[in-house]
Amino acid sequence: MPSTPENQHSSRDRFKYDQVSHYIMDLIDKGTLKPGDRVPSLRKLSKSLKVSIATVNQAYLTLEEKGVLKAKPQSGFYVHTGINREIATPKPIISTCQPRKVRFGQLFEEIFEISNDASIAPFAAARPSMELMPSKALMRETRSVIARHAQESMDYCFPPGHERLRHQISLRYAELGLSIAAEEIIITSGATEALSLALQTVARRGDIIAVESPTYFSVLRLIEKMGMLALEIDSDPLTGVSLDALEFALDTMDISAMLVVPNFNNPSGSLMPSSHKRQLVSMLSERNIPLIEDDVYGDLYFGNERPDICKCHDEQGLVLSASSFSKTLAPGFRTGWITGGRFHEQLLEWKQATSSASPSLQQLAVGEFLRSGQYDRHLVRLRKAFKAQVEKARFMIARLFPEGTRISDPQGGFVLWVELPRGINCFDVYTEALQHHIGITPGMLFSATRKFRNYIRINCGFPWTPENEQALEQLAGIINRLNA
Ligand SMILES: Cc1ncc(COP(=O)(O)O)c(C=O)c1O
Repeated sequence: MPSTPENQHSSRDRFKYDQVSHYIMDLIDKGTLKPGDRVPSLRKLSKSLKVSIATVNQAYLTLEEKGVLKAKPQSGFYVHTGINREIATPKPIISTCQPRKVRFGQLFEEIFEISNDASIAPFAAARPSMELMPSKALMRETRSVIARHAQESMDYCFPPGHERLRHQISLRYAELGLSIAAEEIIITSGATEALSLALQTVARRGDIIAVESPTYFSVLRLIEKMGMLALEIDSDPLTGVSLDALEFALDTMDISAMLVVPNFNNPSGSLMPSSHKRQLVSMLSERNIPLIEDDVYGDLYFGNERPDICKCHDEQGLVLSASSFSKTLAPGFRTGWITGGRFHEQLLEWKQATSSASPSLQQLAVGEFLRSGQYDRHLVRLRKAFKAQVEKARFMIARLFPEGTRISDPQGGFVLWVELPRGINCFDVYTEALQHHIGITPGMLFSATRKFRNYIRINCGFPWTPENEQALEQLAGIINRLNA
């Protein structure tokens, strides 16, 4: 591992300089330290907090790295001008609740297309940088699987998929207090296939599917392609779907199923509190309505504890819970899964009918990676990297974007949902940014009614290299011009 300030220090040192960082952040939060102010000198703070000068220096360097402080040669550290600790989060949009046909133009395909182009700054698709993925270790595991199980890794493994991987997934559910046997899990080709199988299983053409608003655009695309109707339920940027709005919809409409991303929603970053999840499951169960949940970001929490999932509150087998290793390990492996409660048999039939099987080699390699403990160790590093990247992006956006910009404050995952001043059209931002080889996702893609016109989503799955920082500055220039 390259030597970075983080790993040069013992955990005790790190604890100390984290404390110093928190002390400074607290002073900024309270307004004691204002943008442009000089922060206490290394010597003074080391004396008053009774820590070494090196510890204070390390804390200041870390805050500089995050864009909070700025070092001035021969002069010391200053609070970055333009940093506004009270970064407002996006406002919820209240709208009328009507089921809609979804109609996407070519914009949907374009977002994927530009995300394949390495010359375009990677803020469009919600994807992690491969630099953060344990590719070498996974390659070693893959080689070893081929050497030990050559035929098995190249043969069909019909649904539900490889037992060794399903067993590892069931162990992860056990850590969440959920008893799900390997037999209740079906391996899929990514979470996208899992969601597609789930929708095919619980609804048909013309049916109404309740979704959060904003919602991940591939979910809307699936609803479009299956000829279903999307019912967008107002959602809070912090706590997810509004249960009051949902109750109203349930009382007035014939809803066939609901689909949510309860943990670190894409794009809003919202995290449904556990009590909220329980209530949601109970409201739907009372009416015998299946709930499809997508937990692809659940392992990427920034706090101390992994959030639970709706499935933890499912007493009637009505929750179909899907996820994948695409955001945490290897998007190209296309390894995902679903546990479908009482819909298990129907899901299996759909899986068999539509794709026969998912690739064996990847399932075996991921299964080994999990079994050996490497996955959990990797997640510790990954969560830390995403947290720092997201934090830094928030500070940079707060500093560079026009006044009135509001930014989500996700407690996990790696995307930011940015509300721009009202007059700015996200499609203009998208088009102009693309001309400068910068990708972003325009907000209107996250609604069938195209209502998030002044919103954009920024992917922070990539480390802040000087090139990426420059691209973000350029993007800010474009947005400021459009705002003028
Ligand atoms: C909420 C959500 N679900 C599913 C996916 C896709 O997952 P996969 O690549 O495993 O199909 C994404 C990717 O952006 C996502 O954000």
